[in-house]
Amino acid sequence: MSQRRQSNSAGETEALAAQLAVVLSPGDVVLVEGELGAGKTTFVRGACRALGVDGVVTSPTFTIGQRYPASVPVSHLDLYRLADLGEEEPELLDDYLGPDRIAFVEWPGGAVATIAEHSRVAARVVIEHGGGDRRVLTIETLAGDDRLASLIEAP
Ligand SMILES: Nc1ncnc2c1ncn2[C@@H]1O[C@H](COP(=O)(O)OP(=O)(O)O)[C@@H](O)[C@H]1O
Ligand SMILES: [Mg+2]
Repeated sequence: MSQRRQSNSAGETEALAAQLAVVLSPGDVVLVEGELGAGKTTFVRGACRALGVDGVVTSPTFTIGQRYPASVPVSHLDLYRLADLGEEEPELLDDYLGPDRIAFVEWPGGAVATIAEHSRVAARVVIEHGGGDRRVLTIETLAGDDRLASLIEAP
């Protein structure tokens, strides 16, 4: 299933992310793709807030990921600098992915296959620039994943 949604502000992108986040379960991974400045971190921030994460949500700079405490702990990875991760060091992901956590991955790139082998990829979100503050979000979910159907089918 796939649906395109338009966002006209960072706040709208955060709100859309929150709608997705609240139907996620422990063990779910959401891939977040798009160019630099598209709004990937903004999307993850909105999702994290909805999941009860307090404090700063920014792309990790010196590590591949952050781990945020919350009632269901949340991981936030940014694999921009690790294009080849997965083939070489899949265990790098072990600290961030697992059955008890929800994880968001910016720039999943070359790690997609490895992530999908070890975790349930619940959704893939692609964010594209639409001029100014406009963004177009394409949200793909697994066929038959009813939890996300209401979000996907919403007008
Ligand atoms: N509709 C929108 N959705 C998301 N971000 C937006 C939007 N309009 C403007 N922005 C701005 O674009 C920037 C996106 O940055 P960021 O989320 O860090 O992108 P990325 O992680 O993809 O590099 C932020 O400064 C944000 O405020
Ligand atoms: Mg980012």
